[in-house]
Amino acid sequence: MTTDSEAVIQYHNRTKHQLNAYAKGPESLDWDDQPNPFRRFNGCETVKLPMPGAELDCLFGDLDKPEQIAAQTLNLKNLGLLLELSFGLSAWKQFGPDRWALRCNPSSGNLHPTEAYLLCTDAALLEPGVYHYVSHDHALERRARFDAGDSQPELYIGLSSIHWREAWKYGERAFRYCQHDIGHALSTLSYAAACLGWTIELLSEASDAEIAHWLGLDRNDDFVVHEHEAPDLFCRLHTGPQAMAGLASDRLSQTLQSAQWFGKADKLCGRHFYRWPVIDEVSGQAQKPATAAERWQEPFFELPKPSHNLAASRLIRQRRSAQHFNGKAEPLPLADFQRILSALLPNAKPPFTAWNWPPQVHLFIFVHRVAGLEPGLYLLPRDSQAVPALKQACSADFAWQAVEAPFDFYCLTPGNVRQAAKTLSCHQPIASDSAFSLGMLARFADNVETAPWHYRRLFWECGLIGQILYLEAEAAGVRGTGIGCFFDDAVHGVLGLKDNTWQSLYHFTVGVPLEDGRLQSLPAYEHLK
Ligand SMILES: Cc1cc2nc3c(=O)[nH]c(=O)nc-3n(C[C@H](O)[C@H](O)[C@H](O)COP(=O)(O)O)c2cc1C
Repeated sequence: MTTDSEAVIQYHNRTKHQLNAYAKGPESLDWDDQPNPFRRFNGCETVKLPMPGAELDCLFGDLDKPEQIAAQTLNLKNLGLLLELSFGLSAWKQFGPDRWALRCNPSSGNLHPTEAYLLCTDAALLEPGVYHYVSHDHALERRARFDAGDSQPELYIGLSSIHWREAWKYGERAFRYCQHDIGHALSTLSYAAACLGWTIELLSEASDAEIAHWLGLDRNDDFVVHEHEAPDLFCRLHTGPQAMAGLASDRLSQTLQSAQWFGKADKLCGRHFYRWPVIDEVSGQAQKPATAAERWQEPFFELPKPSHNLAASRLIRQRRSAQHFNGKAEPLPLADFQRILSALLPNAKPPFTAWNWPPQVHLFIFVHRVAGLEPGLYLLPRDSQAVPALKQACSADFAWQAVEAPFDFYCLTPGNVRQAAKTLSCHQPIASDSAFSLGMLARFADNVETAPWHYRRLFWECGLIGQILYLEAEAAGVRGTGIGCFFDDAVHGVLGLKDNTWQSLYHFTVGVPLEDGRLQSLPAYEHLK
């Protein structure tokens, strides 16, 4: 009998890209039948949110000390801002006859498998019920109405994934990308809340079955076959100084008993030509049960101010993925590099205030162009205690030369690592033409063997880190791009790793972007005017 942990590890192994073969995916794509990136439920009442686009006073650097940001009033305008800055549109791009939307949250292939829901028991804000956020329309669809009785006025936010959206293009590996996207989405939510002086509490004790029930995702008849949504995360929004209160799941389930549900999900795609059953299988095997509440208190440490300290809301809206980098640009100033890396270490600031576990992911960094730093392969442990285990697992040839920096930082091997970085990231020049690129090395076997759902949690942590990199890159006047495509075991080979104690789960690159002048950029919400 294969255990769920073993099955999840088998999924991981079979979805590795190898230098001589990519993980299984579609042989051809019918672009006219790409899944609709905007889900709508037919037959629900719609609540339009006030026009998006308002700029907030708080600067990006202010988010380093979130407790000093004055809390905004909880009203529909500010709730709309929270949703816009987390999951809303940030621009439209046009190339010839093709037009596509970008959002504040990034997504592998811009396919956007993540859906966001509100569960509101605060009658002064919204009629108590469950709402689905439609980013295109900046509106809420009322999926359910219930009697909140004498419940505390609360606002919860749930996240789910439509695996099919991502699998349509990426086949079997897509489940990984959906988890990355959830990590990015949790991170965007945490940053957006902080801009408003609010906090996100991740209620990680909830089981997937509970989240599915509360959000109506287990109402199979409301969804088209193969286009169902898998539950991922459930959070509480704190708009005042109340303490993190944990989850009263029985009370919530009881409140939902009086729910009256509305609407059916639109069909996203004309046909499902290819099927990837392994995704439903791993989704079942990596399901999260109810668990004891875990809260991990991050230490606080002071960060230097970012060099482009813009209004946080502006910086969040201007975040983009670079498609190309200028390989001949001036090196990234050391102070910017150090600020970016410091921001990745657990700290009492967003997005870590919405994260409940100690760091499991460390970074190996291909330094190409950073002022005052020799090019080479480096390691940034996000927890110093992991260093002995990392040293033992990695190649004995590495120097582990301590580098003078405000944090623990090691040079493993100096030299030009551009070609290696590019080859390992599926031959993508974005990994070599940047200032630096990196891989995220997760403590793997231990975590997945302890609980199969930790597989997803490791990818969420990588997505969380990726979103910090995206925003910190903008705050340093440069740009980042997530890299989901890399040759897994070739990466492990370069690091000298011999087994699956550690696995690289996500790559990222940061540098001076080259704009594609052929693309036209249009405002996000002109169509609502
Ligand atoms: C998990 C993840 C993996 C990604 N992988 C790649 C990649 O391998 N190569 C690439 O060029 N872009 C990659 N991207 C960038 C996406 O294509 C980009 O986020 C998407 O097109 C939306 O554009 P935006 O980030 O500018 O909003 C990735 C993004 C995410 C979130």
